[in-house]
Amino acid sequence: MLSVKDNEPVEFTEAMLGKFAEIVARYPEGRQKSALLPILHEVQAVYGWLSVPAMDRVAAYLNIQPIEVYEVATFYTMFFLRPQGKYTLEVCRTGPCCLVGAERIMKHIESRLGIKEGEVTADGLFSWRGVECLAACGYGPVLQIGPSYTFYENLTEESVDKLIDELKQQASVNG
Ligand code: FES
Repeated sequence: MLSVKDNEPVEFTEAMLGKFAEIVARYPEGRQKSALLPILHEVQAVYGWLSVPAMDRVAAYLNIQPIEVYEVATFYTMFFLRPQGKYTLEVCRTGPCCLVGAERIMKHIESRLGIKEGEVTADGLFSWRGVECLAACGYGPVLQIGPSYTFYENLTEESVDKLIDELKQQASVNG
């Protein structure tokens, strides 16, 4: 993942531009704006979040107004509008998951990572937040980790600790 800070200018890499062109080609001529969502997903996969300069570059690339990008990016909760940890644990906080311990799991994550919702650990590895129903209501408590949106179900404090340890291990191996 490439690091980008608030208001830092971004230049899309050749690989990103190649991917964008491939996405735009899926849509009819003159309908390049339809590529906005998949392109924003690509940008977030590379930088981990959508900075204003990155969104402005997307607007310029698609030849649309920046506001058209902001309104989409701020509408969909899967887009992060501030820097995240390498791994963002998104815990379902909707009713059925709460009934089986989602709030307990969020408290445990907060205490285990030592950060409040939306913050990033000092090592840059983790952030977490509560999200609405992840459509796995029968398997709660549930969390997902993007950008591949891997699901972890029937969570317990122990399974969350194990997951965090595995992610730390994975980060130390892969960098
Ligand atoms: Fe948690 Fe639906 S309520 S996945």
